[in-house]
Amino acid sequence: MKLYLYPLWLRLWHWINAILCIVLIATGISLQYSNPDQPLLVPFDLAIMAHNIASAMLCFNYLGFLVGNIISGEIKQYHFRLKNLLEKILQQVRYYIWGMFRGEKSPFPPSKKSKFNPLQRMTYVSVMFVVMPLTIVSGTALLFPELIIHNVFETGGIYIAALFHSAIGFFISIFLTVHIYLCTFGPTIFSSFKGMLDGYHRSKE
Ligand code: HEM
Repeated sequence: MKLYLYPLWLRLWHWINAILCIVLIATGISLQYSNPDQPLLVPFDLAIMAHNIASAMLCFNYLGFLVGNIISGEIKQYHFRLKNLLEKILQQVRYYIWGMFRGEKSPFPPSKKSKFNPLQRMTYVSVMFVVMPLTIVSGTALLFPELIIHNVFETGGIYIAALFHSAIGFFISIFLTVHIYLCTFGPTIFSSFKGMLDGYHRSKE
């Protein structure tokens, strides 16, 4: 079955975001583990420049995500109720690690009204409305270190901001790995990726 779930603006946002995140992770790792004399993945100066440019673009793109979802009304896809949330998430996890391999039907098949399953919804809410804003705020603070409180309980504020920013960058890398893996769970390995290119979600049912 084919369902048109990803309009053009969303697909454009998504792929620009994906490319920028990959550039930010590669240059971020490079900056974290190298010094000016010993470049790691990318030469130090280039890594700084690319990281700054890509992060500014990511902020504008993120605004596009918010505005697009609000104007289209699709922001409702991110609303969730706490009632039975854990049970629903565990039901989806059980399907991913057991039911799916036994040919069971998906417990929360996507529809236009509700395109995410509970696990996707909670993951996307956490990443898009908690992790991304925290990454943007901590990154902006590091770009303008004069904004950072100098001393937090006898520890340098910049050190804490840098530690927080790299930890959250690490979390995004883990999300990205799991996200891409789960996207292979469609009717064929590539059908979800194809969906994010032509807008049509495909399912077995
Ligand atoms: C190479 C990198 C990436 C690939 C191949 C990829 C692939 C996909 C695919 C195939 C979908 C649609 C199917 C689904 O929801 O299961 C999707 C949706 C989504 N992805 Fe990604 N993704 C990538 C990177 C990212 C990154 C870095 C983020 C956020 C930081 C992200 C956030 C999302 C969100 C929020 C959706 C749901 C969009 C919607 O339907 O409204 N993705 N991704």
